[in-house]
Amino acid sequence: MSTETTSAGGTALSAGGVDPRAVTTARLQQMKGRGEKIAVLTAYDYSFARMLDGAGIDVLLVGDSASNVMHGHQTTLPITLDQMIDHAAAVVRGTSRALVVVDLPFGTYQGDSQQALQSAVRIMKESGAHAVKVEGGAIIAESVGRILSAGIPVMGHLGLTPQSIHKFGSYTARATGREEADRLLDDARLLQDLGCFALVLEKIPAELATRVSTQLAIPTIGIGAGSGTDGQVLVIQDMLGINQGFSPRFLRRYAQLHEVITGAARQYATDVKAGTFPSRDESY
Ligand code: KIV
Repeated sequence: MSTETTSAGGTALSAGGVDPRAVTTARLQQMKGRGEKIAVLTAYDYSFARMLDGAGIDVLLVGDSASNVMHGHQTTLPITLDQMIDHAAAVVRGTSRALVVVDLPFGTYQGDSQQALQSAVRIMKESGAHAVKVEGGAIIAESVGRILSAGIPVMGHLGLTPQSIHKFGSYTARATGREEADRLLDDARLLQDLGCFALVLEKIPAELATRVSTQLAIPTIGIGAGSGTDGQVLVIQDMLGINQGFSPRFLRRYAQLHEVITGAARQYATDVKAGTFPSRDESY
């Protein structure tokens, strides 16, 4: 019996209903066109990338949230370009279908478009990733334009932009007032006009995110931005319940891995100390 079905466009789908073809920026655009939502998760290493890619996640974002969840920093600011490249290269090695997008870390693209291009080129050359992501609108337009001019796809990121945390002083919702909402809409249009292929909208009112998503031709990916965006992204440690200290309203936990992992580690320690691991069958 065949395990394949066919999508509306006639493409053979795998048993899990996932189009097995590699995800490209053009395919994300087509998904928006036919109203198919885009599933994005962060990934920072080979093993997770393999699982998430195999599960049919469309885009793996090597987010600079690695600074928090992989390196234990309070903010995303300390992570370096070299560290991001290491994470990205591991994710690329674990991926065969998903589009891999990598955050340009703080201080590697904002003030100097030549430096922005060099940083993006290093990510593409040294990791094999498919695209980069940057935070901000008009203020980084020159950097975005320069990266795009080298043929490197760029994903924008507006709303709550964690690299600017010290400017705002909190992680509260953004663009809740008229003026900031209008500015965000202008920035979104600018990023699209510059040539960005997609846009992350973080922690903004659902109504505004829906408006941006309707007005833009490029796909929007929301986090804490309601259901009206063209796709959703979550940080993998958060959605798996590994990172217990973070519980914003927008976070749905799909597993409770903190309990699973600590329970397994506790049992292992008990077995080792009791001398019951390894058993005869587990020995040579
Ligand atoms: O760094 C990150 O993980 C991100 C997502 C939360 C969008 O930018």
